[in-house]
Amino acid sequence: MAEQQETDDFERWVAALQQALLERERELFSETVLQEARQPQNMGVMLDADMHALLLGPCGDNMEMFLRLQDSRIEAVAFMTDGCGPTVACGSMLTRMAQGKTLEEAAAIEAADLILALDGLPPEHVHCATLAVHTLQKAMEDGSTEDEETKE
Ligand code: FES
Repeated sequence: MAEQQETDDFERWVAALQQALLERERELFSETVLQEARQPQNMGVMLDADMHALLLGPCGDNMEMFLRLQDSRIEAVAFMTDGCGPTVACGSMLTRMAQGKTLEEAAAIEAADLILALDGLPPEHVHCATLAVHTLQKAMEDGSTEDEETKE
């Protein structure tokens, strides 16, 4: 009986904690960031990429970008990261923004454009957007698929 009471108390505590975490997330991040982080698009390794870059951000997180070209347009773009939720959201949104663009058009995308598309990021996560944009630019500059990690 006492054991059942302890289990019920623990489950209530876990539910309250989950609710508090969800509310905190909603305070910090836009609905767009939360949606992109929970259901990221274009996340994965592209084996037949024409262009690739792997950058290490100042926070110690990696961002990787893969591009496949067709008639000088970005036919497909994918990303991988071991970073935080906002970094996943940045990779997802940036790949969607770059898809179908020419390299020149994609190179013109700035971190501010990405942050705008995500309906904002808290100041402590602005570097996540910068990391994603710099990784995309690096992939387009280098134009190689060599697996080489570069520190920002
Ligand atoms: Fe490191 Fe987001 S916290 S990239």
